[in-house]
Amino acid sequence: MRRAQQLGRYHLLDRIAFGGMAEIYRAKTFDAHGHGHLVAVKRVLAHLAEDDDFIQMLVDEAKIASLLRHGNIARVYEFARAHGEYFIAMEHVDGKDTRTILERCRQKKRPMPPEHAAYVAAEVASALHAAHTAVDGKRRPLRIVHRDVSPSNIIVSYTGEVKLCDFGIAKATLSKVNTKTGVIKGKVKYMSPEQALGRKLDHRSDVFSLGSCLYEMLTRVPPFTASNEMDLLIKVRDAKYRPIADLVPSTPPEIEAIADRCLTRSRAQRYQTAAEVEADLRAFLRRYVPNYSRSHLGRYVRKAFAAEIERELRMLEEYVLADDVSDDVGENLIARDPEDVAPAAVPFQPRPTGTASHAVADSQVTRAGEDPDGEHSTTAERRPDHVADGFDLHGAHTMILDPARHVARARSRTQPPPVPPPRPRNPSAPPPVPPARPRTRTQPPRPVLDFGDEIHHEETMILDRGRLRPGRG
Ligand SMILES: Nc1ncnc2c1ncn2[C@@H]1O[C@H](COP(=O)(O)OP(=O)(O)OP(=O)(O)O)[C@@H](O)[C@H]1O
Ligand SMILES: [Mg+2]
Repeated sequence: MRRAQQLGRYHLLDRIAFGGMAEIYRAKTFDAHGHGHLVAVKRVLAHLAEDDDFIQMLVDEAKIASLLRHGNIARVYEFARAHGEYFIAMEHVDGKDTRTILERCRQKKRPMPPEHAAYVAAEVASALHAAHTAVDGKRRPLRIVHRDVSPSNIIVSYTGEVKLCDFGIAKATLSKVNTKTGVIKGKVKYMSPEQALGRKLDHRSDVFSLGSCLYEMLTRVPPFTASNEMDLLIKVRDAKYRPIADLVPSTPPEIEAIADRCLTRSRAQRYQTAAEVEADLRAFLRRYVPNYSRSHLGRYVRKAFAAEIERELRMLEEYVLADDVSDDVGENLIARDPEDVAPAAVPFQPRPTGTASHAVADSQVTRAGEDPDGEHSTTAERRPDHVADGFDLHGAHTMILDPARHVARARSRTQPPPVPPPRPRNPSAPPPVPPARPRTRTQPPRPVLDFGDEIHHEETMILDRGRLRPGRG
């Protein structure tokens, strides 16, 4: 039996990952109707939580990221402080990140089949285009640049959904690391040349990084590698890499050409929008595997991680939630006044102008006057006075797998199950009342947290993980 630790309104289950900035937990929380949902909780490490500037930057970035609604973007629900800790609660993607998938590919000495690589990259391109074209309530472009499009931030669910994570958060992280060390750290491998040079960035930087991910999926090695960081920065700056066909001769030339065009050093010669990348990848996919669908990808990941899926299911069954639940749900630091925002109508088309990069170029890497394409970004970073909510650019269709059912079952041994009231069917209905975690004693009302339509719609959202066991898909 494992006991879940409470943090705000979340009950932390297993730790999924541990990084330089945060620990990631799978966590369970309850909605207004007492239904349990899985979320991912990214808990900021203690030494960083003491740095007010860093926390403020994370809050600013999380605010923007929380506005993005797209089926390929993992939603940010809140950035909160509770029990003296800071954490981000976000959509939990039940699957494996592409870094882990690529590690498995390397172990098996087989790259990802081109159709899966094309599909994953197309879905990420779709997410990026939505973010790049997002506007605020007054239709002013938000000029969001992800800055950290890399395999660990692309998660493929066991049903084949592809979700891009950590929008904007990279900016704070990179900035933090840079001020500490004076050089660019982070995932240099997947940076664009202009990012490695510390230039102002625009959305085309993400297009380059997506190209690096696509290259690695097709070859199982990143395009730029070196034994030390300085050499790596230089390689990224020069954007010179071994042709994909040299490494994997069977790669279809069409998809190689798409990767090459993303990985062009000159921004002007690259794909100008992520939408163009997506269109070319989908056209390739239609020709290469005409009947390809998401379920093909889901099957591929479930097969590759069959043993892990079984282990995770068993482990989650062991969790029980504490009976002495604290009422302190903490403070949501990115809560917005609903009156302060208005839905946006038409997304703008991204233009090649700059968003400030916080990467600091080392003098050995930046040569005077050098720019990947001779362009100078002149537009200062714009931060809107207020930002739009509810701009559903492409519509979301998220599925949350529910191993938590097992946890609920464990809990039900000590508490009677909640009786859920009928759920509203009207999507324009007001948000649900404050989450009422089923309890045996009365409790004060808690602040409402909108987990969004996707987390409340059981029909589309909650799948039985048992059905996803390998071999059944
Ligand atoms: N929303 C999520 N749902 C499921 N797993 C997640 C989620 N977010 C992160 N993870 C898992 O945690 C891992 C580590 O995430 P984290 O963001 O802390 O580090 P990173 O991606 O390596 O670095 P970065 O800080 O640059 O994003 C991810 O690679 C993924 O496997
Ligand atoms: Mg990440």
